[in-house]
Amino acid sequence: MSQLDKLFQHAPSPMERLPVPEATDRGLSLFVKRDDLLRLGPGLALCGNKWRKLQYNLQAAKDQGHTRLLTFGGAYSNHIAAVAAAGAQFDVETIGIIRGERVPGLNPTLRLAESCGMQLVFVSRSDYRKRHEDGYLHKLQQSYGPAYLLPEGGTNLLALRGCMAIPREVRLQLTPPPDYYALSVGTGGTMAGLIAGLDEPARVIGFSALKGDFLEEEVAKWVGRAPANRNQTPPWSIQSHYHFGGYAKHQPALLHFIQNIYQQYGIVLDPIYTGKMLYGLLDLIRKDYFPRGSRIVAVHTGGLQGIAGFNERFGGLLDLELV
Ligand SMILES: Cc1ncc(COP(=O)(O)O)c(C=O)c1O
Repeated sequence: MSQLDKLFQHAPSPMERLPVPEATDRGLSLFVKRDDLLRLGPGLALCGNKWRKLQYNLQAAKDQGHTRLLTFGGAYSNHIAAVAAAGAQFDVETIGIIRGERVPGLNPTLRLAESCGMQLVFVSRSDYRKRHEDGYLHKLQQSYGPAYLLPEGGTNLLALRGCMAIPREVRLQLTPPPDYYALSVGTGGTMAGLIAGLDEPARVIGFSALKGDFLEEEVAKWVGRAPANRNQTPPWSIQSHYHFGGYAKHQPALLHFIQNIYQQYGIVLDPIYTGKMLYGLLDLIRKDYFPRGSRIVAVHTGGLQGIAGFNERFGGLLDLELV
């Protein structure tokens, strides 16, 4: 694995003001932390929170002398695409254990992964459920060779460590610092890392991309394990009503919103994570959730590679130019 330093010696991702009338009319300052602009390698896959979650893991894999990464994901997984892109970029073998059957032609995520050299291994849902079992992980390594194992979604302590840099960068970019952070939540790793990295009394609001209330527990678990910058955990909460029907489900209002943000401000949001987060955030703003004068940072966690797959699946519903 060569040139990994590119992942560490990058400039802070840009911070942009988002002058939406909902916020300015209420005396709020809204910013977007553009982690989507942290990009490396093919296909816009190694970007956003994937960059942050993978950087220390790739370093650890290299330090441990691994030449192969093995990970897990669904057929549209941003994480699978990111690991594949990292493999191509840093010249390391990658194996993706994919839930479900191979479909002819593959979708854009898996086409990208395969074009990056990732070996795709399709397993039944019942086998996929064994992804946390030592015996199964051992068997996979017997079949495909010794590998550095990355969990589904890439969440582990090293991933949290990468995400701890988000508030560290923001601290240097914004004076006074923000009162609130908002971000999308899938496994909870990015949010837990951000919370652990906070050194000031900001509140963190996660917007769940999934239906259900279980993410509070997940985030709490990861926050409890993370090395914290401070003695006290800052206040955080999860908004669980902006999933638009569940993971990867959508409704016209969401797509209209994404299209509108793109046309007005030139920011491309994805329909699975970041679109739902910003939609939810602006809804809370309209409901006067935030005190006047608050400074809010919304973290754009990327997910751009997923738009092609979404469009292919649903007949080109989003007209966004990805550059
Ligand atoms: C674009 C994007 N944003 C946010 C998330 C949520 O991150 P986490 O799984 O760390 O909660 C993910 C992945 O899960 C993602 O791909």
